[in-house]
Amino acid sequence: MAEKPFLTDIKTLRERARKHIEDGAITEGYKGESETAIKILNEALATEIVCVLRYRRHYFTASGINAEGVAAEFLQHSNEEQGHADLIARRIVQLNGAPDFNPAGLVTRSHAEYVEGETLLDMIKEDLVAERIAIDSYREMITYFGNDDPTSRRLMEEILAVEEEHADDLVSLLEELG
Ligand SMILES: [Fe+2]
Ligand SMILES: [Fe+2]
Repeated sequence: MAEKPFLTDIKTLRERARKHIEDGAITEGYKGESETAIKILNEALATEIVCVLRYRRHYFTASGINAEGVAAEFLQHSNEEQGHADLIARRIVQLNGAPDFNPAGLVTRSHAEYVEGETLLDMIKEDLVAERIAIDSYREMITYFGNDDPTSRRLMEEILAVEEEHADDLVSLLEELG
């Protein structure tokens, strides 16, 4: 069960992220850039919130002989994702947008998924998938913001760097457990 959704889901989610960014480029003529920026940032906000919740769930349910160190890592990641969510929400407000914290539709707006996972290994793999999705979609957002919105670009660059560290941490955990 671990292998198949692994690749398919990333592909679908990446396509969706790409599609939204292309839509944004098309609408720029009649609605301006900030509406697209707010929409993209709200997708990043949803992604972060889903990651907070997934890591939280993993923190509380991690069990087994290797669980303690891994759970500590889950908690740290969860807290850092919360920090990212706060930064993104603040930026949305700066752009005169409304940060979308509505739990309804959260999973649809998010690029990363909420997967509970049965075993410690499942959890780490799912978290790694989610980080890789975030890394890919944030990279595209950074390209989209480019020089038009350097503040949003820099924010997402800082967050991206942390997501890459998270992915690295998870790979190390997989190696230790593997
Ligand atoms: Fe994050
Ligand atoms: Fe992360």
